[in-house]
Amino acid sequence: METQRVIVDNNVNNNKTYSQAVEKMMAGEVVAFPTETVYGLGAIATNESAVAKIFQAKGRPSDNPLIVHFGAAHLILDYVSEVSVKADACINAFWPGPLTLILQAKPNVFAPNVTAGLQTVGVRMPDHPVALELLEMLGQPVAAPSANRSGKPSPTTGLHVEKDLTGRIPLILDGGATGIGLESTVVDFTVDPPVILRPGGVTASMLRKVIGEVIEPDTTKVEDETVPRAPGMKYAHYAPDAPVFLIHPNREAIDKAIKTIHRNHQKVALLASDEFNQSQADWFFSLGNQQNPEDSAQHLYAHLRACDDTSADIVLVTVPEKTGVGAAIFNRLEKAADGNWWSS
Ligand code: TXA
Ligand code: MG
Repeated sequence: METQRVIVDNNVNNNKTYSQAVEKMMAGEVVAFPTETVYGLGAIATNESAVAKIFQAKGRPSDNPLIVHFGAAHLILDYVSEVSVKADACINAFWPGPLTLILQAKPNVFAPNVTAGLQTVGVRMPDHPVALELLEMLGQPVAAPSANRSGKPSPTTGLHVEKDLTGRIPLILDGGATGIGLESTVVDFTVDPPVILRPGGVTASMLRKVIGEVIEPDTTKVEDETVPRAPGMKYAHYAPDAPVFLIHPNREAIDKAIKTIHRNHQKVALLASDEFNQSQADWFFSLGNQQNPEDSAQHLYAHLRACDDTSADIVLVTVPEKTGVGAAIFNRLEKAADGNWWSS
């Protein structure tokens, strides 16, 4: 299959491009498009064979349900059986935006492969002009996971999508780099108090200001079967080809680690905040200012992907404070490193 990547530029008339995307999706094809978090790979959420193409293109396990995207908040009422007062308050506060709500789905409204057999569904309204235009023109909900090959970091540019999915999907709407850079916060509203299943741009404290108590389980403890989490979070994720090790942002520890790696005749890529760019690492990717996790989030996946273009044998990444968006970054890094910390 030939994959077309079409730039969707604010300054030109994109009607033809959108029509092309709509036509393809109406015909049961998948199309990649930007959202404010990461790029999504979309199919109409009621079309089972179209949705099956998402799983196929990504190489995604079929027991991992998809998020359904809507062009306006009121549209969810035809698809979910109940919107609690707390869920409604969060929709008002954070939509359009990076918050996915897990709600009870009405029976038989989505293709069964969207929810992977669950009675619940994740819904969100993205805050991106291209996504919203597409959703509005379609007038139908769109199931869309991140547009990466399963296991790889989510794509934050159209080129990332092209790298992963060329030959597997017909069309990529390229709207440039995404703003947030990490996937949406996933919150389960089928329980009370609601539970954060995946941390993201809408932080625990932002949620608490709107609805009070919110449970924030330690999602990094992959082994703990009692911890509720999104089905997708049990899979390996976000990983470059070389093994990733976490390290505290401490000058001495980093210098020592690099020395050890070099003594073993190996090469190391370091992802760390700016203050560590004078290190002896063979490659350095800046996570920006330590005090500004939003900055790190925006470039994190591009840097993890860039490690694959180096000949590094080992990737070292410094961890942020676990507060605010730092919690989401920490969560993704733990997954990228498969829980491994550098020790030497
Ligand atoms: O920002 C985002 O959320 C992006 C953009 C494209 O919208 N999408 C995204 O989708 O990250 P995906 O498929 O990569 O991640 C969806 C996560 C998975 O961890 C999945 O297990 C969880 O949401 N999820 C989906 N439906 C669920 C449900 N009914 N119950 C619990 N978790 C669910
Ligand atoms: Mg994903």
